[in-house]
Amino acid sequence: MKREIIMFGSQVLRKPCLPVKEVDDDIRALVGDLFDSMRAAEGVGLAAPQIGVLKRVCIIDVSHQQPEYPPVALINPVLTDYKGEQVGEEGCLSFPDLYGDVKRHAWVEVEATDINGQSFKTAGEGFYARALQHEINHLDGKLFIDLISPLKRQLMRGALKRLKKEGEAWDHENA
Ligand code: NI
Repeated sequence: MKREIIMFGSQVLRKPCLPVKEVDDDIRALVGDLFDSMRAAEGVGLAAPQIGVLKRVCIIDVSHQQPEYPPVALINPVLTDYKGEQVGEEGCLSFPDLYGDVKRHAWVEVEATDINGQSFKTAGEGFYARALQHEINHLDGKLFIDLISPLKRQLMRGALKRLKKEGEAWDHENA
């Protein structure tokens, strides 16, 4: 089911998420909702806090950009290795139409649990590596905006202010 994506400004996006203890039907439904919501918004990744669930679950689908990496759901993902450096443009569904250059590891390896409760590893480079780092950051309340240059953030100031009102309104309605 498609869920509302929460905008920058909501406190939900700043809270650390709790580990998933057991992969049950609720978690599988959450993963389904993440895919439905991400696809409706034409995104390449989404994390549970972005739909208001403070659990360590995220999904990535960069298959349009890099067909070698199929869509993936990551439960309790942990960065286990990394190499090199890349700088590239990044956006986020909680920041519609805002983009900025972010420095990331060029290659990463991540260990996670899948929707059947099995542990697995995934590794990759380029945009996929960037998406993995971006989504794992979400689970710790970290946003890409924290990593862009102060000058760029200054240029986005007006847009961020408007977005922040939307996020704060969501908190108010869902308090
Ligand atoms: Ni994001």
